[in-house]
Amino acid sequence: MQYKAIKLVKRPELRITPDLFETVTLETPAIVDGQILLKQTHMSLDPAMKGWMTDDRKSYIPPVELGEIMRSSGVAEVVESKHESFAVGDRVVGMIGWTEYAVSDGQGLNKLPPGVSAEAVLCVLALPGLTAYQGLIEIGKPKAGETLVVSGAAGSVGSMVGQLAKAEGLTVIGTAGSDDKCRWLEDELGFDSAINYKSDDLAEQMAGATPNGIDLYFENTGGPVQHVVFNRMNAHGRIIVCGMIADYNTATPAPGPSWINIIKRRLTITGFTMPDHWDDVPRMMQELATYLAAGKLKYRAHKLQGLESAIEGINLLFTGGNTGKLMVEL
Ligand SMILES: NC(=O)c1ccc[n+]([C@@H]2O[C@H](COP(=O)([O-])OP(=O)(O)OC[C@H]3O[C@@H](n4cnc5c(N)ncnc54)[C@H](OP(=O)(O)O)[C@@H]3O)[C@@H](O)[C@H]2O)c1
Repeated sequence: MQYKAIKLVKRPELRITPDLFETVTLETPAIVDGQILLKQTHMSLDPAMKGWMTDDRKSYIPPVELGEIMRSSGVAEVVESKHESFAVGDRVVGMIGWTEYAVSDGQGLNKLPPGVSAEAVLCVLALPGLTAYQGLIEIGKPKAGETLVVSGAAGSVGSMVGQLAKAEGLTVIGTAGSDDKCRWLEDELGFDSAINYKSDDLAEQMAGATPNGIDLYFENTGGPVQHVVFNRMNAHGRIIVCGMIADYNTATPAPGPSWINIIKRRLTITGFTMPDHWDDVPRMMQELATYLAAGKLKYRAHKLQGLESAIEGINLLFTGGNTGKLMVEL
């Protein structure tokens, strides 16, 4: 049987363009003892992939080599098994890549509990929820009554952060790039307020929404929100630096604010990357599943159709065109 996969053949300069990829048709390999054959059903598209395409060998994860199938996480079904821990029909989540089928020895795959949809896995239990949980709960140590601002709030990670913070009793303000996204945050997800960061009066709106200052800032974007928030941080505030998507497609990063407040107000700024915490994934997944079962985490999936929709579709992450966790349905 034949299947399609997409290889990275060129490194990006500023933008991700179709000429970086080559779609190939491959023969399904025969599996040997200890292996399984996976048919991928849902494939996650994430901003970090831009970094994985570049030749940065000092990053937290090695780059995808040219000629290799593009790296991504996804949900798959076991369709053949010669592995004692996996049966045909099992559903798994893991790093599967831009491919319709993959052979695996099971390492790095987590089996999915029955009844949980692939969308719920990619939107909540996998990278977005895990990142939100690690950053907010483990690093931010939020306390009821505190005020949290999250940038990229209508995104996959940001929407989980805000809802987890609401569930923990915080006042939550989110920033997003359109009025529609802001309405979704306030009306559907229960944020206390949401601010369109493209407004002319961003600073005034932020001041109005945070009369008691800001205790926790969950940074997903960088850009103008960072400057406005930084000036409103309270003493002993915490800034969780998760992502800087505003700088991913620019030639030079934006000039930063003066960091003098880090000293004066005894702030802690902590960068983190989820892959450092893989060992803790089973526990965090369980915690997230509890919030999910209690109806405290709403989510939405933005689904593209067919393997090759990934090539153009990944750019929705950088234009704000994705309304929900971006994924490909194969
Ligand atoms: N540290 C980690 O381990 C880790 C793990 C996962 C994700 N992340 C980071 O978390 C951030 C969010 O990732 P995600 O997967 O949840 O993606 P996402 O938020 O679902 O999608 C990306 C969103 O970023 C916003 N954006 C794009 N360009 C922007 C700009 N110039 N300024 C401000 N916002 C911009 C857009 O929303 P708007 O319409 O609101 O502009 C877009 O919808 C990224 O920075 C990512 O790298 C880090």
